[in-house]
Amino acid sequence: MVIIAANRFTTEAQRFHRDTETETEHRAMKTKSRIGILVIIIGITLSFLLAALASARQSPEPLTGNWAVRTPNNDGTFRTTYLNLKQEGSKITGTIRVTQFYYRITDNTGGPEGFVLNASMMDGKSERKVQYEGKLVGDELHISTRRRPQDNPTQMVAVRAPAGEGALPARNPLPALHKVRDNGLARTPPMGWNSWNKFASRVDDATVRSIADAMASSGMKEAGYTYINIDDTWEAGRDAQGNIQTNKKFPDMKALADYVHGKGLKLGIYSSPGPNTCAGYEGSYGHEEQDARTYAAWGIDYLKYDWCGARTLYTDEEMPAVYQIMGDALLKTKRPIVYSLCQYGRLDVWKWGADVGGNLWRTTGDIRDAWDSMTRIGFSQNDLAPWAKPGHWNDPDMLEIGNGAMSETEYKTHMSLWAMLAAPLLAGNDLRSMSPEILAILTNREVIAVDQDKLGTQGQRVWQSAVPSPPATTAATPAPPANQEIWTRTLSGGVAVAFFNRAKEEAKITIKPADLKITGKWKARDLWTLQNVTWPETEYSVTVPSHGVVMLRLSK
Ligand code: GLA
Repeated sequence: MVIIAANRFTTEAQRFHRDTETETEHRAMKTKSRIGILVIIIGITLSFLLAALASARQSPEPLTGNWAVRTPNNDGTFRTTYLNLKQEGSKITGTIRVTQFYYRITDNTGGPEGFVLNASMMDGKSERKVQYEGKLVGDELHISTRRRPQDNPTQMVAVRAPAGEGALPARNPLPALHKVRDNGLARTPPMGWNSWNKFASRVDDATVRSIADAMASSGMKEAGYTYINIDDTWEAGRDAQGNIQTNKKFPDMKALADYVHGKGLKLGIYSSPGPNTCAGYEGSYGHEEQDARTYAAWGIDYLKYDWCGARTLYTDEEMPAVYQIMGDALLKTKRPIVYSLCQYGRLDVWKWGADVGGNLWRTTGDIRDAWDSMTRIGFSQNDLAPWAKPGHWNDPDMLEIGNGAMSETEYKTHMSLWAMLAAPLLAGNDLRSMSPEILAILTNREVIAVDQDKLGTQGQRVWQSAVPSPPATTAATPAPPANQEIWTRTLSGGVAVAFFNRAKEEAKITIKPADLKITGKWKARDLWTLQNVTWPETEYSVTVPSHGVVMLRLSK
């Protein structure tokens, strides 16, 4: 190419020479030699430039750079994965940022023509790992990863992004701990609906409005359900002043709040103390007070605050200070906003959740619409009872009742167990299309009355059948649970007693009331058949269907 370029200049020079042939020979010669020198200089410069370009092209480090995969969320926002890579020979270092996670590359094999990157991050006390495979194809990085080793790989194409884009923000210093004043809300466990379990990222303005309509017209509102809570995926980015924006699915949050309030209901919203929410949307990191003010201005009544991306910046031990920031910020707005902590029960949140202003705190990972998930969570709450009290509740996650993958018997068990636990009752189903049977379960007033009892004392297990002798117990195959359990809950003016059968077959449970520490004469009512029953002083027998419950309320 250098030669061709030089030739082109020679031709130019020749043409120039022809145009000046009327000049004297000497002048022509002088000019010719000047042109010759110029051509040589230009040629040398060009050859340097082209050589530099060629060497950049064939750089041994073509993977070096910031690479981004932008996946549209269908609401005007994007989910972005960043691979910020540094290649030095066969070694690749750097970071991988995926929605709420921020990994450091620990090792690699291969190079531009085909590589594997292993990366890891600490998430509290546990390590998370991720693996990306890829290769350079022209100016694109073709990559793939698997959510779990057994999954099919997700293929993605990354393109070069400006240096620094997607970098993790600096860690903000944390405030000293103090006791956040009780906001006086949630004297009984909050009741309402949340979008996540049924709609996940499909929730939008129209859905929320129609759910509010259904809540108001179905009898749910009369039964005590009040909060309509929008979970993750309503967020967009921020404006030039740093104000959080809603995405296309929620054109006007204030108007939506007005609509929900107009139905006599309240509106809840969701955010994260981290830079990103769990679904990778904009979190409140560094904008806590500003966001709290925005929520108040919109007319928000409830905030679920989900750890998510905060795990990339803070340790579990720092959670109380991180949650305190928003606890203070919400109080400062002067608007009554229920504060719901969601950090999956880490760091024994029940011991400090109230001190940072929390009205409720998730005690476990996410529930699924499955018997195993629901019972594993629900029956594991026994030891947390001392921490529940008016204004401050253990939250074993939202209800799955009516989502379709459990039987009505199992959903009754779900409802009963949550009521025994003084758990928040946040329906997670599509209220617009539920069957009368599901509506009846969700609106059983007598079961709700147990949940909402004003003493706020969480129930506990008082008896369980012998644990079936398991085959060898390992971490992978833990001991099976007891087949039958009896839980009681002290109520104002009574006791709730629930007989649960976790077995695959119907079971007859026979118990001496004295063994349950319930002595004397009681009037008893079956809260599912809505019949009065006889509570004997000596021995009580009840037949409970597989995965079912018999729930009684005893009163004097
Ligand atoms: C976490 C929470 C869920 C839900 C999702 C939303 O997983 O535990 O309840 O809010 O985030 O991304």
